[in-house]
Amino acid sequence: MIGSMAVLLTGCDAAALRPAAADGAAIARGREAAVRLGCGACHVLPGVDWPRGRVGPALSEMGDRALIAGRLPNRPDILAHFVRDAPALLPGSAMPALPMRDRDATDIAAWLGSLHAD
Ligand code: HEC
Repeated sequence: MIGSMAVLLTGCDAAALRPAAADGAAIARGREAAVRLGCGACHVLPGVDWPRGRVGPALSEMGDRALIAGRLPNRPDILAHFVRDAPALLPGSAMPALPMRDRDATDIAAWLGSLHAD
């Protein structure tokens, strides 16, 4: 599975989603983008009181996970790709494709990577 992922990730727009080193501004923008794009409809987002959707897993400790959705390496570039187009990486995933700008995807990945258990 991970071998086939490597093939997929060399495809079209993976290079466009090469995040810069996460900085505080990117993390703050990522949180704002996740709220604006409605991720809370399906996920509990840390620090966001409403909505607190339960369709997908809580994202509270995403920075501690080794894997995304239990199947993909939790690297910033892969995470950025996943949040924008999960079905492209995991066909059949219940996480829908969510059109967004490149910067939203990389900022959201920076924010998710900053989320650790207390
Ligand atoms: C329509 C519901 C829905 C929306 C909206 C949604 N997600 Fe998801 N998300 C899911 C589901 C369901 C999964 C589990 C997918 C799987 O395991 O294949 C998931 C999985 C994830 C994961 C992996 C979690 C883990 O524990 O490994 C991340 C990260 C994630 N979503 C981020 C986001 C972000 C960021 C947004 C907003 C841009 C978003 N999601 C919007 C349903 C949604």
